[in-house]
Amino acid sequence: MDLSFDLAVALDRAMAEAGRKLGWGEKEFTPDVRLADPVHGDFQANGVLAYARRSRQNPRALAGAVVAELGGLAPQYEIAVAGPGFVNFRLRPGALLAWLQRHGDRQALTAGAAEAEAGHTFVVDYSSPNTAKQMHVGHLRSAVIGEAICRLLEFQGARVVRDNHVGDWGTQFGKLIWAYKRRLDPAALAADPLEEFERLYKAGHAATEADPAALEEARQELVRLQAGDAENLAIWKQINAASLAAFQPLYDQLGIRFDALLGESFYNDRLDAVYRELTGAGLATESQGALVVFHPEHPRFKTQPFIIRKSDGAANYATTDLATILYRAEHFHATDILYVVDKRQADHFEQLFLTARKWFAHAGRPLPRLEHLDFGTVLGEDGRPLKTRSGENIRLKDLLAEAIERSHRLVSEKNPDLPADERRAIAAIVGIGSVQYADLAQNRSSDYVFSWDKMISLDGNTAAYLLYAVTRVHSIFRKLGLPPGDPATEAGATPFETPAELALARKLVRLPDALAAATSNLRPHFLCTYLYELAGEFSKFYNADKVAVEAGPVRARRLLLCNRTLLLLETGLHLLGLRTLTRM
Ligand code: ARG
Repeated sequence: MDLSFDLAVALDRAMAEAGRKLGWGEKEFTPDVRLADPVHGDFQANGVLAYARRSRQNPRALAGAVVAELGGLAPQYEIAVAGPGFVNFRLRPGALLAWLQRHGDRQALTAGAAEAEAGHTFVVDYSSPNTAKQMHVGHLRSAVIGEAICRLLEFQGARVVRDNHVGDWGTQFGKLIWAYKRRLDPAALAADPLEEFERLYKAGHAATEADPAALEEARQELVRLQAGDAENLAIWKQINAASLAAFQPLYDQLGIRFDALLGESFYNDRLDAVYRELTGAGLATESQGALVVFHPEHPRFKTQPFIIRKSDGAANYATTDLATILYRAEHFHATDILYVVDKRQADHFEQLFLTARKWFAHAGRPLPRLEHLDFGTVLGEDGRPLKTRSGENIRLKDLLAEAIERSHRLVSEKNPDLPADERRAIAAIVGIGSVQYADLAQNRSSDYVFSWDKMISLDGNTAAYLLYAVTRVHSIFRKLGLPPGDPATEAGATPFETPAELALARKLVRLPDALAAATSNLRPHFLCTYLYELAGEFSKFYNADKVAVEAGPVRARRLLLCNRTLLLLETGLHLLGLRTLTRM
């Protein structure tokens, strides 16, 4: 029996092979196997119809012929021709059981899943905040979505380089260094460096607005920094180091560990090559003193320039991003580069990718796949970008602290008898998980409304609901006095019989499809939806069929369903970046 991890992929291969045996051209016939509505079966193949149309033959006759070739699958599937020429596959209870037996632990799932993205190296550019400022709610989505995508890709066999492309270089350092030298409050710096840098920047900004002499001094500070002046470089380094140290606790809370931390400044001495090559290729031209790239084939970018060197001679965001692509291609051997960045930067990335494509083609370099994984804005319940009551950006650290605080209340109401320190530990996992999950459960391209009450709730598609579902399965094992995940408890299981057993088993074997949807679209919400549905299916099963029956084959197969539900829920939540619990 072929019980590959991804049954749809295996069926696709078997059908393509059958087509070859029938002499159908490989290019003309694609089986197009996908999940079916459970009313019709587990999978359906739609490709015969298209092939029949193209080759002007009777689709039902062709479907019949291909089914006749698939005799080897009969022990696993009931196969039937349906409608005008669809082929439907329904897994037999014994095959459901065999698949679930074969995929009994994390290792087996990992081994099965690792085929999908093997051979790819993804550089994922995410979080990437600017230094000298607090991270605020606007920085949440890139970090959370980026991390989930890294984990999904890694699980599916890709090599992943997590790269934090921090904005650590730029004109803001002129005013900042100016104020640092004149207005620094060392006690405030020691207490909270980012607060102090923000205050200094504001002070520098106000002073230079009010006084042209101060503005000129700030400009000189920037020039000195760019020229490598030792004092200014030291201040700049201190500001960046303190900023990164302040970001670290947030990354720890969100379970993020970067492989590379190559900020914009890292590319400083790689920018001249960009000007040189783009000019040499005839892509960049001088326009009003600036160096720019136009894209004549594009309706907007034929007149809207991509500025790669400003008229004052300074490099900018575009220049560094171009140099970064080259570095990632050469140094990391990236096959794919993903940018998890706010959708408001869509134009920048479109211009960047167009430019890189022409540049690399001209130089004869293979271009990695470049993709902007955009995301929408976090909105308040009034439908406007989420802010504090006084209209300021909400700091990420305050937001996470409030999530933990609110979860603590939920946990304490629900389970007041748990020891206080355990309640606190649970609240941290539920709180952070709720924020992550609320963000991930939506299609990332849409804006989403941030609602504490909805996100920290045991009802609906929430982290608390799923984490609670996990603890419920753990408690089943605790009550039976059995360790979860022990293959011995499943020994002697017989194929599923009751409707609830069968429905749950069918849902379980659909995990690969959910992973494939989440990964190929780079949209984690597909996995969220799956986990939510799986938890619901488990509930139905648990209400319908008793697990604690007398020892024997029925109990073994029901324990197997409990074990596998637990494994998939935990694996899925971990892939999303959440931590899980055994009780709450
Ligand atoms: N630092 C930028 C910002 O805060 C985001 C950088 C995204 N990554 C990139 N390679 N452009 O808007």
